[in-house]
Amino acid sequence: MNGVGACGVRPLLRNCAARMSAEPPDKPRTASYEASPEQVGRVLLLYSGGLDTSVMLHWIQERYGAEMVTLTVDLGQPGEDWGVVTGKAEQLGALEAVVADAREAFARDYVLPAIKANALYGGGYPLFTALARPLIATLAVEAARNHGCDTIAHGCTGKGNDQVRIEGTIAALDPELKIIAPVRDWQMGREEEIAYAREHSIPIKGGSAVSPYSIDDNLWGRSSEGRAIEHLDQPPPDDVFRLVTPPERAADEAQLVRVGFERGCPVSLDGETLALVELIERAAEIGARHGVGIVDHVEDRIVGLKVRDLYEVPAAAILMSAHRELENLVCTIHQNNFKRALESHWAYLCYAGLWLEPLRADLDAFMDSVNRWVTGEVTLKLYRGSVTPVARNSPYALYDRSLATFGESGGDFSQHASPGFIELFTLQSRLAHRVRRAAGGKGTEKNDDKEDR
Ligand code: ARG
Repeated sequence: MNGVGACGVRPLLRNCAARMSAEPPDKPRTASYEASPEQVGRVLLLYSGGLDTSVMLHWIQERYGAEMVTLTVDLGQPGEDWGVVTGKAEQLGALEAVVADAREAFARDYVLPAIKANALYGGGYPLFTALARPLIATLAVEAARNHGCDTIAHGCTGKGNDQVRIEGTIAALDPELKIIAPVRDWQMGREEEIAYAREHSIPIKGGSAVSPYSIDDNLWGRSSEGRAIEHLDQPPPDDVFRLVTPPERAADEAQLVRVGFERGCPVSLDGETLALVELIERAAEIGARHGVGIVDHVEDRIVGLKVRDLYEVPAAAILMSAHRELENLVCTIHQNNFKRALESHWAYLCYAGLWLEPLRADLDAFMDSVNRWVTGEVTLKLYRGSVTPVARNSPYALYDRSLATFGESGGDFSQHASPGFIELFTLQSRLAHRVRRAAGGKGTEKNDDKEDR
């Protein structure tokens, strides 16, 4: 994702590593929170244990002469060993290496509102990265205060959305804090970073088996970007998918899962009551087995670029389909139509890093109000990549079988009343059609074609 830095490619590596440890370049400050070197005393580094942030941990000490505290946020990234991550941070000179278990807060305060908002950016991305960033930034501000840090450092590039989300949130919560984003400044590509790591004995996670792609994950999903994925005209490379079994290799047997909701919150799977984190993890496992939740998404980033992401979002595929199905059943036609427009606006605000924008809270109040009635169960059929709602029930369903039954009349629904309804309901549209046709054919289908030409 970092692309090739200004230092160029292999033959220049030695030169490049030497230049990286030189004095900070004279770069004009463009934001109030950007730190000049003399302001940096102790840095809280958002640390994942990966290549970028490990190089950063060394580089910041070298360049700024700063003391370092690292913060690693557990958001349910599968397969991480936090002991190894903190050990590495300490080995690389951190005064303290903190791990925050934020899984529950993430599920309750970020993923759940997204479920209630049926939030999909660009129609396909369930926002797991975007949802995580304001939480990570909030925890970074807290940790910076607790550990006497004047500056927060993060590993985002200058081309992505994450810098917007993280810096926007930090600057809103504490305008006094300074922020440094070394990846944006140092312009090293991946090869140069590896060379820097070797030169300074920084261990590289995964060694040569490290994924060629840029990965981000948490309990709500996983994304891969970069390298072969950038070729939009090619199908996804085979080695991308590590979470979801490709549908063609998934079990040739359908599975039914029953998801229970209370007031919009998923509370049970197949009748077993589960806490939200566990429920999401369980749904992810089941979905992954059946090949559901693979999304090939060309996305409009906030910074103007179009970029392709390959998402693996099995839990979201299951829980959001079930939620939408149930909500649709308990809401009126007017609520259903109106909510869609607000949902895409909610998703946009979240994507754009405007989590603290008051409109988001206003929209949440609406989502919560609608979701008071989203209680009941939905059964989904999972089969080789597809998720299909096949049964649903709710004490608040706006459904009356005796009224819906085809061909019968009676009760509150009189079919004799239908022609009158149709005449009045279509009145304005029919009138407009007639008036405009009389005015010279404008507005009628046949003539619109001609006008457009
Ligand atoms: N495109 C998504 C977003 O902006 C996911 C980015 C994930 N980052 C990554 N390095 N793969 O939220």
